Amino acid sequence: MKVLIVGSGGREHAIAWKVAQSPKVEKMYCAPGNAGISQLAECVPIGAMEFEELAAFAKEKAIDLTIVGMDDPLVGGLVDVLEAEGLRVFGPRKAAAILEGSKAFSKDLMKKYNIPTAAYETFTDPAAACAYLETAAMPVVLKADGLALGKGVLICQTLEEAKAGVKELMEDKKFGSAGDQIVIEEFLTGREVSVLSFVDGKTIKVMTSAQDHKRAGDGDTGLNTGGMGTFSPSPFYTEEVDAFCKKYIYQATVDAMAAEGRTFKGIIFFGLMLTDKGPRVLEYNARFGDPETQVVLPRMEGDIVEVFEACIDGTLDQIDLQFADNAAVCVVLASDGYPVHYEKGYAISGLERFADADGYYVFHAGTKFAEDGKTFLTNGGRVLGVTALGKDLKTARANAYEATEWVDFGNKYMRHDIGKAIDEA
Ligand code: AMP
Ligand code: GLY
Repeated sequence: MKVLIVGSGGREHAIAWKVAQSPKVEKMYCAPGNAGISQLAECVPIGAMEFEELAAFAKEKAIDLTIVGMDDPLVGGLVDVLEAEGLRVFGPRKAAAILEGSKAFSKDLMKKYNIPTAAYETFTDPAAACAYLETAAMPVVLKADGLALGKGVLICQTLEEAKAGVKELMEDKKFGSAGDQIVIEEFLTGREVSVLSFVDGKTIKVMTSAQDHKRAGDGDTGLNTGGMGTFSPSPFYTEEVDAFCKKYIYQATVDAMAAEGRTFKGIIFFGLMLTDKGPRVLEYNARFGDPETQVVLPRMEGDIVEVFEACIDGTLDQIDLQFADNAAVCVVLASDGYPVHYEKGYAISGLERFADADGYYVFHAGTKFAEDGKTFLTNGGRVLGVTALGKDLKTARANAYEATEWVDFGNKYMRHDIGKAIDEA
C-alpha cells in the first residue's frame, strides 16, 4: 500500500512512525513533512492547504490511503476534494469537521443532544455580548467561534477584562473571521483530560487517556501554547469517569452527528474537564492531538492502518483496540521565546542516541535539514517531542527527562514539571 500523510508536526511524525510498522505499507509520503519525518517517508513540498496539488499528487502516485493530520485542511474540506477524485481518505468530511471548526456549532449540538458541557450563550453582536457579560458570573470564558491556532480562548477574571476580550475578538478581529461569532461560557474547574477516539460513522473506539500542559511556563504560567508536554494514561481518568463518558458523551456525540446528517468518520478528540459535578466537554477536535499523539500511539498495540481502514469502511466494531499496560511521558523541546518570538536555524545534536534506545522516541515538530542534507536544524517554536515509556508514570517521566539531556540545540527550552500532577494522584 502507498500512504500519504498530510501535515508537518510532531503529531504527523508519530502517526508516520506508527503507520511505518504496518506490514501493509510499502511506501509512505508526507506533505509537507519535516526533517524527522523524512527518515520514514518521502516528503513532498506541498502545503496542507494546497488541495488541488495534493489531489493531483495522490492520483499521480496512486495513493491507496491518505491520512489528514491537521485541523485546517479538515475544516476546509480536503477530505471532500480528495474523495471527489476517487481517493480513500482517513478523516472527517467538511460537514463533520465543523465539530472542531465552529465552537457555536459544537455547543449547540451538545445542548440539543444533552451532552454535558459548560453553560453558554453565542453572540454575533459585540454590544449584545457586553450586555450579557453585565449579568454573567466571573471568571468567564470567551471563545472565538472558528479556528484560531488554539489561541482563541480567553479566560477573563473581571467584567472589564471580559469586555476588552469581546473587543479583541469581535471588533479588532485578532483572529480574523474566527471572531465573527463568539461563545461566552461558564468557567469550569477541575482536571483536564484528553481522550482521543476512532470513529467510523456509527461505532466509536476510545483510545487511552492523556493530559496536556498548554501553558508555556512551569507551574502553568505564561501564555497558552500548542502543548508543552503530555502524559498517558491520566490517573484521574478513573473507571467511574470512563463509565460516565461512555454513557453520556462518546456514543452520544457520534449519534448526534449522524442524526444531523454530518456522519463523522475519523478521530474525535474529546477535551474533558473533570468537575466535581462530573465530566464536561470543554471542546471537540476532529483530529489527533499534538502532543497527545506522541504519548498515545507509542502505547497502542496492533496495526493502525487496519484501524484507519475500518473507520473508512464502517467496520470498526470488528477491531479490538488495545493499549499496553504501561505509561508514556512526552516533554516538548521548544525554542526559547515560543509561542511569541523565537529564533530558528540552530544545529541539533544528539538525535542518534534514540536510534537504538528501546522505549525512547524523538518526534520532530519543527526541524529541517541544513544545506549539507544531513545536519538537523531547528525550524519552529516547538522543535522536538521527547517521549519515553515506563512501567508506570513516574518511571516514564524520569526516562523522558533523562532523554531530554541527550539532545542539544541553540535556545533549547522546556518545562521541567511535565507530569508533576502524577504525584498528586
Ligand atoms: P479549548 O481550545 O476550548 O480547549 O480551550 C483551551 C483551554 O482553555 C482549555 O484547555 C482549558 O484549559 C481552557 N478552557 C476552555 N473552556 C473552559 C471553561 N469553560 N472553563 C475553564 N477553562 C476552560
Ligand atoms: N494538544 C492540544 C491539541 O492538539 O489541540
